[in-house]
Order: sequence, then C-alpha cells, then structure tokens
Amino acid sequence: MDNIYKRTHMCGVLTAGNIGETVVLNGWIQRRRNLGGLIFCDLRDKTGMVQIVFDDDAPNALFEAADSLRGEYVVGVKGGVRAREAKNNALATGDIEIFVSDMVIYSEAETPPIYVKDDDNADENLRLKYRCLDLRKHKMQRNLSFRHAVSKATRDFFDGQGFTEIETPMLVKPTPEGARDYLVPSRVSAGLFYALPQSPQLYKQLLMAGGADRYMQIVKCFRDEDLRADRQPEFTQVDLEMSFVDEDDVIAVQEAYLTHVFKEVMGIGLETPFPRYSYAEALERFGSDKPDTRFGFELVCVNETVRDCGFRVFADAVATGGDVRGINIEGGAERLSRKDVDKLQDDIKVYGAKGLAWVRMGADSVTSSFGKFFGETEMLKFTELFSGKPGDLILITAGKSKTVFDSLGFLRREIARRFGMLDDKRYNLLWVVDFPLFERDDESGELSAVHHPFTAPKSEDVALLDTNPAAVRARAYDIIMNGVELGGGSVRIHDRSLQAKMFEILGLSREDTESKFGFLLEAFKYGVPPHGGLAYGLDRLVMLLLGEQSIREVIAFPKNQMAVCPVSGAPGEVSREQLLELSLGSAE
Ligand code: AMO
Repeated sequence: MDNIYKRTHMCGVLTAGNIGETVVLNGWIQRRRNLGGLIFCDLRDKTGMVQIVFDDDAPNALFEAADSLRGEYVVGVKGGVRAREAKNNALATGDIEIFVSDMVIYSEAETPPIYVKDDDNADENLRLKYRCLDLRKHKMQRNLSFRHAVSKATRDFFDGQGFTEIETPMLVKPTPEGARDYLVPSRVSAGLFYALPQSPQLYKQLLMAGGADRYMQIVKCFRDEDLRADRQPEFTQVDLEMSFVDEDDVIAVQEAYLTHVFKEVMGIGLETPFPRYSYAEALERFGSDKPDTRFGFELVCVNETVRDCGFRVFADAVATGGDVRGINIEGGAERLSRKDVDKLQDDIKVYGAKGLAWVRMGADSVTSSFGKFFGETEMLKFTELFSGKPGDLILITAGKSKTVFDSLGFLRREIARRFGMLDDKRYNLLWVVDFPLFERDDESGELSAVHHPFTAPKSEDVALLDTNPAAVRARAYDIIMNGVELGGGSVRIHDRSLQAKMFEILGLSREDTESKFGFLLEAFKYGVPPHGGLAYGLDRLVMLLLGEQSIREVIAFPKNQMAVCPVSGAPGEVSREQLLELSLGSAE
C-alpha cells in the first residue's frame, strides 16, 4: 500500500482522444455503484471527474478492494481509456471511462459530515468547520484558482507599469484607519503592544518619501470590526501608492488595471473612463455613496412641493431642515402588497426612519397613505414629480437628511433585489469623488476624517479649514462596483504644517500626534514627493467577479461571524507561563 502511482494525467482532462491509452490517475472517490459484475466509481481531482470501472473478471483482490471503496477514499488507479457505452454529456470526460487493471488505496475515509457536491445545501457553519471537504468541491476549487488568476493579472499589470512590490511590517504601531486594532503584546518591551496593520497606509507613504516612486503590494490587513458578508477580520488588499501624481493620474492607472483584469480573467472589455459622480450627486440620486446603477428607482426630492402642505410629517421635516424624498417603484403597485410596504417600513427603522408614506397608482384612481391631506390637483402634481403612471408605487420618507438617504438607498436596492434586477453579469464600475474631508459625530459634535487623516483637502477649500471645516472637500476617490465599495484612496497631504493642522482639527493633542504619527512627520522633514494611492479589497473584487454573495466563498479559511476560525477554533487559550512571559498575567 505504500507505493505511489505516479499519475500520467489529471482526472478532468481525458477525452475520446485518449482512447486506447493506459493512464494512471490519482484522486478521491466521488461515489461507487456496484452493479453485480461491474463496479463503477467516479474519481475526482481538482480538474474534474472521470468514471472508472472494475470488472469481476479482474483478480479477486482488486475487485474486492473496489467493492470496499467509499466516498472520499483516496486512490491511485491504472487502466485503459475506453469509450463509454452510455455517454454522460454533463461531464467533460463523459465520452470515456477507465477500465481499471490495478489500484492502490492511499487512504480510507469515514462517512463525511458534508457531501462533496456543489449543490449540497450544507449549513455554512458545517461547511466552514469541515473546510477540507468543502474545498474539494468543484466550485471552491474554481473560486481559488480564479482568485489566483486575479492576483497574477494584478501583479503582471503593475509590474508592467513600473510598480515594485514591497513588503511592509505586520507588527506596527496602532494604525489610524478607524476600526479597532488587533493587538500583539511585546515580550521584550514589557507592557507595550504592537498592532496588526489595518492597512499599510503609513508605510506606503514612507516608501514614497523613501523614493520607491510606484509601490504595490498584495497584503493582509486586520480590523477588529463587526462582520458582514463583505467584511472579514483579516482580509486582503491590493495596495498602491504613486509619487508625483494627482487624482486623475491615479484614476487613469486604476481604469487601465481593472480593464486588464476583466480582459485577462473574464474575457470582458470595459468602457473607460468610468463615470464619476460627486458624493453629493451620488446621495441625491441614489441615496448612497456606493451607488448601484444597474437599475433606476432614483431618488426625487419633493421638499419644495410639500413645504406648505397639510401633511404635518412632510411640512415639519422641511421646516426643521430635513428632507422629504421618495422613489418611484415602476410597476410596484401590483408587486408589493400593503403588507410588504409595512415590512419595508419596519426595515428602515434601523436608519432612524419614522415611517414610510406611499402612493399607489391604480388604473383609474390613486390611493395614498396621506391622501386625506392632499387635494386631487396637489396629488397629481406630486405624482408628476416622480413621473408616476398607472401601476407604479411611490414610496416617500421624511426626516433628517441622512436618515432619508440611508432609508431610500436601502429600499431601492432591496426592492431591486426582490424584483430580480441585480444582474450579476453586469459590471457597473464608477468613481465617487469630492467626498467631504470630515464628518461630524451627531452626539459629540466632534469631527473625524471620512477617509483617513492623511487625505489632502481640495486646494480651493483649504481656506475653509479655519472657518468651516465641515464644508471642506477631500481629494479622495472610491471605486464602486454594483453598489459595493471595491476600493478607495486619495491624494495625500505632503506638507508637514498642513498635516499638523489636520491633526489639530481632528482634536489630537500635540503629544498624541507625536506618539502616533511623529515618525511620519519626521520623515516629511527631509523631502517628500507629492503622492497619492488607493487600495482595493481583493476578496471583494474576486467575489463580485464570480457573482458570489459573500467574501467567505473566495477565502480558503475564513472566520465565522464570531471572528472564530471554525477549522482550528482560533482564538485559543494560552498558558499562564506564556502570559507571564508577556507581562500580562499575575503569578497567582
Ligand atoms: P479602506 O479602509 O477604504 O482604505 O480599505 C480599502 C478597501 O479594502 C476593503 N476592505 C475590506 N474588505 C474585507 N473586509 C474588511 N473588513 C475590509 N475593510 C476594508 C474594501 C475597501 O474599499 N489605506 C486606505 C487606502 C488608501 O487610502 O490608499 C484603506 O485601507 O474594499
């Protein structure tokens, strides 16, 4: 049993062209059927499956071994390729089979807890726990090779553009990206901690100061934040930085890069330049700074029309500086029942919405949740703002601007999803630009950086830093695909005094600035080029290209919702000795 059959072919590549050849194959048993004198098995490796056949004319030991095979046994077989009597068009190798003359069983397998089948419908927790079985599935093998192809196309492209891949440290000072850090205690410097990098932001800027000119890295980043379908505590960025550039230079390289990836791995041509939306326009039209433009349902502002109307909810919202906006769900009157609308109203409560008003446009009458406050002409004027026609459903919400945008942004996408309008074969790439530099916390009133504190303000807005910082726009850009933030970046501040002012506006004391970012400001003393860059979420890019709904489908060993590795059980306990060594535990 300890001899290894050196394979001559992979399982999935054999065709009628191989008929008559003797081949050696290695792989896993998918399933076995014993038809009395004949035993059929499917043999699988990462390239696909092929049927193997044992005949009871074969030596007893071989036939008995064949009869002992079960799903997921690992074997090597030798045999002749012959035409299959009943062809299987569903299988790439469906024209042929291997008539086995010899076999070695490398390893037996217990009954697996999940089937190795793409459509096994296994619970995700089980799939993640028994990931080795899950990864054997055709779909997962395809996803991992596809990811490899995207990484390769990425490196090839940037290499061709004069970028150098440079590794940056994994044990760093706490980084300023805004999420919580993963901390690593230092043994040598008792009581002090490293952080795992949330991104290589500061190091890539130092590399620009270090003359690297064009840097790229495919790099792991770590953020201790709440998990979602497109967020993992450790994820991978395609990280970039360029010297002597403005935003148009960075954007042009990115459009060429994405065009290259789409061509290489998808065989799809992209039209450039991608559309650019200002942050303000993205909100106004789509209720989101990550607009999905594959479908309509654009927002309509009705503030002016309802300012003096009899419906207090609308009039009060405008009077208190808020907004009244809505979307027209074309053909929605039939497709969304009253109950559906009630449910959607509940859904948007998480954004702070107090209610969802509606207008249902029938063939010859219009009904509405606020009809009694509106005269016939007023209602006609109102529905005209939405270009409403019979069969449409108009949904309106009133309140604080942010609540209104968030609610309608959610509704348009949620309804498009229900109506099957999220075509995953369409790739709507666009830029969102002109972000505000700061956002103000509603409760504390404090300002924080929308991107990060190294993002440069627009030069025409610099004067506003002293008078009205909330109105300052950033030289930042996000790349959005089908409503998902694929990446983001900015032109950076390379002027020390401007950088210091930025920290001051963000409420950082001199000591804080010194201890957190002193090394960057120090480096900037000795000559720093203007620079800018961007980082993509590689997991998200691969997920979207594959039409997957979660980045866990494109990561070999993802964490679950509790940030636990279901395979190893990490995080794990450590011994008291280890803690003591790190000056973390007490000797008690
Ligand atoms: P940012 O924080 O926007 O920018 O991150 C860049 C991209 O990384 C992806 N991403 C994530 N993917 C999976 N799980 C996560 N938890 C996660 N967090 C972020 C997103 C995002 O667009 N240093 C800056 C970039 C720069 O300015 O150059 C940065 O990290 O796709």
